[in-house]
Amino acid sequence: MPDNLQHRLIGESNAIGEILEQVSSLARISRPILVVGERGTGKELIAHRLHYLSARWQGPFISLNCASLNESLLETELFGHEAGAFTGAQRRHSGRFERADGGTLFLDELASMSARLQEKLLRVIEYGEFERVGSQQAIRVNVRLICATHEHLPERVANGLFRADLLDRLAFDVITLPPLRLRQDDILLLADFFAQNMAQEFNLPAITGFAPDIQQQLVLYPWPGNVRELRNVIERSVFRYAEPGRPLTRLCMDPFASPWRQTPEPVVDEAEKIPMNWQEHMAEYERKLLMKLLMSCHYNQRSAAQRAGLSYDQLRGLIRKHAISTRPPEMRQHPT
Ligand SMILES: Nc1ncnc2c1ncn2[C@@H]1O[C@H](COP(=O)(O)OP(=O)(O)OP(=O)(O)O)[C@@H](O)[C@H]1O
Ligand SMILES: [Mg+2]
Repeated sequence: MPDNLQHRLIGESNAIGEILEQVSSLARISRPILVVGERGTGKELIAHRLHYLSARWQGPFISLNCASLNESLLETELFGHEAGAFTGAQRRHSGRFERADGGTLFLDELASMSARLQEKLLRVIEYGEFERVGSQQAIRVNVRLICATHEHLPERVANGLFRADLLDRLAFDVITLPPLRLRQDDILLLADFFAQNMAQEFNLPAITGFAPDIQQQLVLYPWPGNVRELRNVIERSVFRYAEPGRPLTRLCMDPFASPWRQTPEPVVDEAEKIPMNWQEHMAEYERKLLMKLLMSCHYNQRSAAQRAGLSYDQLRGLIRKHAISTRPPEMRQHPT
C-alpha cells in the first residue's frame, strides 16, 4: 500500500481498530462493500484502503460522486456513450465502469440515484455487463464496487426511494464509520497529524503540540463535520497562529467569525450540540452569545447592554463571569 500522506489513516481508538480489521479482511474478497457514516468521517479514505489492500491494488481506482451529476450525465459517466448517441456526443466516451476494469469503482453519494439508473446498476452487478448509451453491444467488465453514502439506505428502501434488491447486492458487507465525537481518543492524534502535515507542506513553524485548554476544547467540541472539520480547523489555526517551538495556544474554529459578519449564526444549531454537562453547556452558550453581542456592538458595552435589554451592571457582571476581553481583537496584544 502506498504510504501516501493524503491516504494515511490515523486512529488508535477501539472503534477504528475494529474497522481496520474489518477493512483488511474485506479487502481480500472481491465483493461489493457499502461504507456509511456521517459527512467527513473518512468514507473515501476507507474505500481507498479497501482497494490498496486488495489483489486489485495495481489496477485502477476510479471514483465518481453520483450526487454531483444529473441523471443523464451520471448515466454517460457511468456507462459511457457511443459517438452520435445524442446531440453533442461527437466521440465515443468510455464510462467509469470501463475505466475501472480490473480495479475498483468507488461510487460516492449514490443514495439519490434515479430508479432507472438503479436498475441499470443492478444489472451490471448481476451480470457483469452493460451497454454504452447508444449501443446494443454488451461490454463485460471485472470491477469491484465500493459505494458510500451518509444517508440511511434501509430507510430509503422502506420509503420506496431505493431498490431493496440493489441494496442487497451493494452491501455484501457494510462498514459503518463512527462520528468523531464518539471516538474522542483519536481527536488529538488526528489534530497532531494534521498540524505536522500543514507545517511541512507550507514550511510553517513546527509547533510542539497544543496548550492544555486547546486540547480540552478540541476533545469536547462535538465536530458535526467530523474529521474533515477537524482538519480544516487545525490547518487554519496552524496557518494563522503557529509559533516556532511553542505549543498552539489559539484555535480558529470559524473562519467567518468577524465583527462584521453579515448574518448571525442560527441560534438553533447550539441546541444540536450534545450537552456533555448541562451547566457547562449553558455557560458556554452564554459565553458565546455574549461574545457575539459584544462583537455586534463593536465592543461598546453600553450599546451592547441596551441591545440585550440588560442593565450596564448586569452586562459587566456577565463579562467578568466569563472573563471576556472587552477590547476588539485587533487591539489585543495577547490572544485571548
Ligand atoms: N482516520 C483518518 N485519518 C486521517 N485522515 C482522515 C481520517 N478520516 C478522515 N480523514 C481526512 O478527513 C477528510 C475527510 O475524509 P473523507 O473525504 O474520506 O470523508 P467522507 O466520509 O468521504 O466525507 P463526505 O461524506 O463529506 O464525502 C479527508 O481529508 C481525509 O483524508
Ligand atoms: Mg466522500
